[in-house]
Amino acid sequence: MSELRSIAAERDAADPLREMRDRFDLDDGVTYLDGNSLGALPRNVSARVADVIEREWGRLRIRSWAESGWWDAPQRVGDRLAPLLGAPPGTVVVGDSTSMNIFRALVAGLRMNPGRTEIVVDRTTFPTDGYIAQSVARLTGATIKPVAPDEIAPSENTAVVLLNHVDYRTGRRHDLPGLTASAQRAGARIVWDLSHSAGVMPIELERNNVDLAVGCTYKYLNGGPGAPAYFYVRSDLIAGLDQPLAGWCSHTDPFAMDPEYRPASGIAKARGGTPEILSLLALDAALDVWSDVDLAQVRQKALSLTEFFVRCVRELTSVECVTPLDENRGGQISLSCPNADKVMAELIARDVVGDFRPPDMLRFGFAPLYIRYADAVRAAEALAEVLR
Ligand SMILES: Cc1ncc(COP(=O)(O)O)c(C=O)c1O
Repeated sequence: MSELRSIAAERDAADPLREMRDRFDLDDGVTYLDGNSLGALPRNVSARVADVIEREWGRLRIRSWAESGWWDAPQRVGDRLAPLLGAPPGTVVVGDSTSMNIFRALVAGLRMNPGRTEIVVDRTTFPTDGYIAQSVARLTGATIKPVAPDEIAPSENTAVVLLNHVDYRTGRRHDLPGLTASAQRAGARIVWDLSHSAGVMPIELERNNVDLAVGCTYKYLNGGPGAPAYFYVRSDLIAGLDQPLAGWCSHTDPFAMDPEYRPASGIAKARGGTPEILSLLALDAALDVWSDVDLAQVRQKALSLTEFFVRCVRELTSVECVTPLDENRGGQISLSCPNADKVMAELIARDVVGDFRPPDMLRFGFAPLYIRYADAVRAAEALAEVLR
């Protein structure tokens, strides 16, 4: 056995999270390093979804809105997600896509800061964040200032700052406590997109006084393809929240069919229309895997797995790693390599599944609940073989 393989075997044996992998439906022949795009299927989800379809929908039909708890599911699932975000109960609601929630958060942030007209956006952001910000600007008359996250200098005209906690391309983690404080010192509101950090590290939204946050649930939270996103509002901002997609489900008394809009009092006012029950309850079941997980161990394993993968890549290839090797990363390693699209296709043909982002980036996601050190060695060996 190679030295790297024996180190991996020792680390896997000593891994306090090693039994978590059994909670997922994974095939050992495939090295699945794309959980930063679509998380693996937790084993308990299929039975739960079948029950929702066959019994709750099939037999109870409309009674399920009350009897099966469908109506309150956006807040209830939000409360289940809250500990993973460092958020108190009653501050997170689940529904719609991340894009829709970015729209909600940006317009709500602008409305919290009347008179200010600038939206500062991470220049390297995932495209949807930038597109939605541009659309919000066109709609509201605000202007967009694209800035590298490290160089953000909010001005007295900055209403809201939109940043990604972990960059989708480079895997770099930005300084959430520091950047939140600097936006707020300038009187701006901050919105964090947590899509690439929730589920790989403790986030501590409340402790860091974050105003608003959004994120996907289909990556490290394993909610399934197109699973609904979440929206966090700091508890003291909920009463004054004026969100732009305030549909009937955010009304204080939806079934009064009141022609006049009167918002619900708690986080329910951040809801929109009818919740996506099938995917929302698949996410609900997927969150079961986190019930006894220590997020400090998750963080520790994400750092150690990614560090070990880079060590393997360096020993076996000369490919360049663009992800920071200090602690400023999440669960992803990005490698820059010529013909990265073709290299990734060859890796996938060898059952090592990561993904490619233009122009030259190979991305590998190390979801700490189910990826092993042995997977890191296997992926690096396959990469070396492809490059040879
Ligand atoms: C940082 C970030 N934001 C948003 C999204 C996607 O948003 P939506 O769920 O609206 O497609 C992604 C998808 O990969 C993402 O990486």
